[in-house]
Amino acid sequence: MIKKILSQANKLHDFDYAGKRVFVRVDFNCPMEEGKVADATRIESTLPTLRFILEKGGKLLIASHLGRPDGFDPEFSLAPVAEKLGELLKEKVRVMPYQLDGENPRQWKEASEKIMMMENIRFYAGETKGDEALARFLSQTADIYINDAFGASHRKHLSVYHLPKLFAEKGIGLLIEKEIKAFCRVLKDPEKPFVVIMGGSKVSDKIKVLENLLEVADQFLIGGAMAYTLLRACGTDVGRSLVEEDRLEIAKRIIDEAGRLGKDFILPCDHCLVKTVDRPEEKIYSSHIETGYMGVDIGPETIRRFSEKIRKARTIVWNGPMGIFEMGAFASGTTKVAEEVARSGAYTVVGGGDSVRALRSLGVGEEIGHMSTGGGASLKLLEGNGLPGINVLLDSP
Ligand code: 3PG
Repeated sequence: MIKKILSQANKLHDFDYAGKRVFVRVDFNCPMEEGKVADATRIESTLPTLRFILEKGGKLLIASHLGRPDGFDPEFSLAPVAEKLGELLKEKVRVMPYQLDGENPRQWKEASEKIMMMENIRFYAGETKGDEALARFLSQTADIYINDAFGASHRKHLSVYHLPKLFAEKGIGLLIEKEIKAFCRVLKDPEKPFVVIMGGSKVSDKIKVLENLLEVADQFLIGGAMAYTLLRACGTDVGRSLVEEDRLEIAKRIIDEAGRLGKDFILPCDHCLVKTVDRPEEKIYSSHIETGYMGVDIGPETIRRFSEKIRKARTIVWNGPMGIFEMGAFASGTTKVAEEVARSGAYTVVGGGDSVRALRSLGVGEEIGHMSTGGGASLKLLEGNGLPGINVLLDSP
């Protein structure tokens, strides 16, 4: 499926934009602080697409979600995001009214403004429910539809899934093309050894990813709370560590399957342990988890074993932190892994907010082959079935 996207989907340069309005769905779901954009990475990542359309004489109608508002809520307004975009493009960005009653979509299409941005698309209940009237309105606001919202393309929401079906001319933007190329390289043509580093809290989010990657990767380094479900499935006592009891069976099946395929599936052999996360100063390191303790980070011997594998890797996929990374006392596993990954020289694809943050905080972003702008979307793509918002743009999805 992923290769099909690159060969079949229309790309940005396949259209004639002169004098046309282009509906561009982006993912400007940026971290915000005190009403301002705190991290503009997602805006910056789509600038090549937006600039390309403007340079070719097109006009933009940009749509994005921000957060998960329940109806209209000024706290989730895209106005500050539009301001930031204007600064970056050095152009005026007009934010369109939220209320569509009385609005004429054709006037939007023909308006003189070069750059218009809709208010938060999730202010409309129809966005998540796939409402026909909203889709019809939006389909009349533009001539061409471009999806560059990689981070939102795993959602079957109106602006990424239903709306493009109403456009004759539709395609993917440059960010999505770049994301797909990076994932294609690791999934379809990985240089070996191929090492997968998985962390984060829930094994349930990663089961299908692990199943798919077992086919193609050589070694699996597992950290984060998800490791405790896997350890428990192997019969290890994990004390009060987070365990998804209802996933023990599938966890065991994955480990057995890895063994059957002759893959290295490495779980933590020692841990940073606490009785409660509120008392990080009482943390201890041990290979044995006493009753009453819970694992909050990988231990030094695990870090050493992981580092050895990472140093020899030629391809790496990393998703999820090795512990409670947001608390400094439990961040050393994730930080060490980030350092090793950056130093390894392997082609690396990193997805998921925390792993990307760990790399950025070390200032090593440049050494990484591809830092994905999508957390959930990158995981879905690693499951191997493409993404609804991208598959829908193919001739024969
Ligand atoms: C993200 O931040 O992962 C994307 O913007 C998707 O957001 P959502 O999980 O609220 O759909």
